[in-house]
Amino acid sequence: MLGTDMMIVFLLLISTLVSSSSSIKDPIPFGNDRLNDFFFVKNGTIFHQFNHGAYGGTAKIVVESQYKYVEQMESSIREWMNGATGYRKCIISAKQRLAEMMNIKNTSDTVLVDNASEGINAIIRNLDPPLGSSDYILDLSTAYGPFKGLYQWLGSRYGVKTLEVPIQWPVTGPESFIQPITAALEANASSINIRVAIFSHVSAYPAVILPVKQLVELFHRYNIPVIVDGAHALGNIEINIEDMSNVDYYFTNTHKWLYSSKSSAILYVRHDHQHLYVPAPAIVDSAMTDDFESRFIWTGTRDRTPYCAILSALDYRQSLGGEKRIMNYNQDLAQYGGQYLSRLWETKILSPENMQSGMTNVQVPTTNFTICQMLVNELYNTYDTMVSGASNIAPELGDIPCYLRLSAQIYQEKNDWHVLGALVMKLLNQFNNNVPKEYISKL
Ligand SMILES: *[C@@H]1O[C@H](CO)[C@@H](O)[C@H](O)[C@H]1NC(C)=O
Ligand SMILES: *[C@@H]1O[C@H](CO)[C@@H](O)[C@H](O)[C@H]1NC(C)=O
Ligand SMILES: *[C@@H]1O[C@H](CO)[C@@H](O)[C@H](O)[C@H]1NC(C)=O
Ligand SMILES: *[C@@H]1O[C@H](CO)[C@@H](O)[C@H](O)[C@H]1NC(C)=O
Ligand SMILES: *[C@@H]1O[C@H](CO)[C@@H](O)[C@H](O)[C@H]1NC(C)=O
Repeated sequence: MLGTDMMIVFLLLISTLVSSSSSIKDPIPFGNDRLNDFFFVKNGTIFHQFNHGAYGGTAKIVVESQYKYVEQMESSIREWMNGATGYRKCIISAKQRLAEMMNIKNTSDTVLVDNASEGINAIIRNLDPPLGSSDYILDLSTAYGPFKGLYQWLGSRYGVKTLEVPIQWPVTGPESFIQPITAALEANASSINIRVAIFSHVSAYPAVILPVKQLVELFHRYNIPVIVDGAHALGNIEINIEDMSNVDYYFTNTHKWLYSSKSSAILYVRHDHQHLYVPAPAIVDSAMTDDFESRFIWTGTRDRTPYCAILSALDYRQSLGGEKRIMNYNQDLAQYGGQYLSRLWETKILSPENMQSGMTNVQVPTTNFTICQMLVNELYNTYDTMVSGASNIAPELGDIPCYLRLSAQIYQEKNDWHVLGALVMKLLNQFNNNVPKEYISKL
């Protein structure tokens, strides 16, 4: 009797499981089906975007939602500016969801800013006490160009000095960063006053993931606070602020890999670095006594709908199956694409697999930098194909005169990378460059 009852329960269980699993919808396919989610198909022509890392790419659904917020703003401007349902609501909700994603314990330690540049300016121009002529900023040769511009400006304006640690390419692993930084600290930390250190979570050129946790620990051993530039991180790789050795400052763009609108980023400042009037927004028009969060929230009539659009970007990503699915697809495709191209071109990949994100860096088989630039321009002008890298090569670093930094994305598939590979070979041949003879038959 008992056995039969149990059998019935068991069968019921099985049938419930079967029916619930068959009711789960198939995931939305990645690949060229997703092109129409973005603005890449125009008048029947496809724009082949291999440079998502540069400017990001905003999903149509996000732009549409942003427009609805613009309508809301224009139709009820007073509530929008001052009410709890206006743009403040967007900021509060977006910060909550982003903080959760980045494993930030207290949402009040974050503010939304326009971009990574605003993040770094808010911090570095307002350190307490302010940077002066006896102070050094430590950065890496791989730093984002405009940040170097900021350090130069601080140099001319306030006499602030920069200690730039050279990174050799191609990098081989975390030690490619840890060793030169350790050496620089050992040689210099006791003789000069390094007030702050800055490095990227994912470097821009070439793109690799840095060993953030170990580097933060290393700087903290010398009592140097650390700013991590996560411009390329959110939506590309996992960010876990709780697992970054008590990092001091961190910022990341939401317009790049998260598919949100331009002019949206998040800045995290560790609680003990939030003083009476620091960090300050780039444009100060708040009361000096405001706390960290309040200093940044009021920006007058500045269009804050991009902050609202973050919510739609997060919803869109959920509808695609969530962060893990998106990141895994992009990382796997970048890895596949890098291997495929380096085999076809018989060249090096400049990013070791354990340091690769949704971007790969592949050497191009030419020794001529002019040819390299022609290649990038021709891909864009004639073949609607956008790649990045050529104009940022320093031949003295690792003797690699030409490489491409390529971004993988959910709207691509393997074949897109095959087409790119053949196109590059064809163009190199056309430019009468030193394409190995055995390739010519393949073109
Ligand atoms: C769209 O494509 C058609 C057919 O190729 C062409 O005649 C037309 O000029 C294009 N329109 C635009 C706006 O590019
Ligand atoms: C979060 O930060 C705010 C502002 O600094 C503070 O008032 C609050 O107590 C913090 N919450 C927790 C749970 O630590
Ligand atoms: C970042 O945002 C600031 C403030 O809106 C703006 O002045 C600056 O040009 C932006 N920089 C970049 C690189 O987007
Ligand atoms: C850092 O140390 C190296 C090696 O001793 C030295 O050549 C360099 O001048 C130092 N840099 C600064 C800014 O003091
Ligand atoms: C590089 O290529 C350009 C364009 O074809 C050519 O004018 C130039 O002479 C080449 N330079 C070298 C060093 O071969």
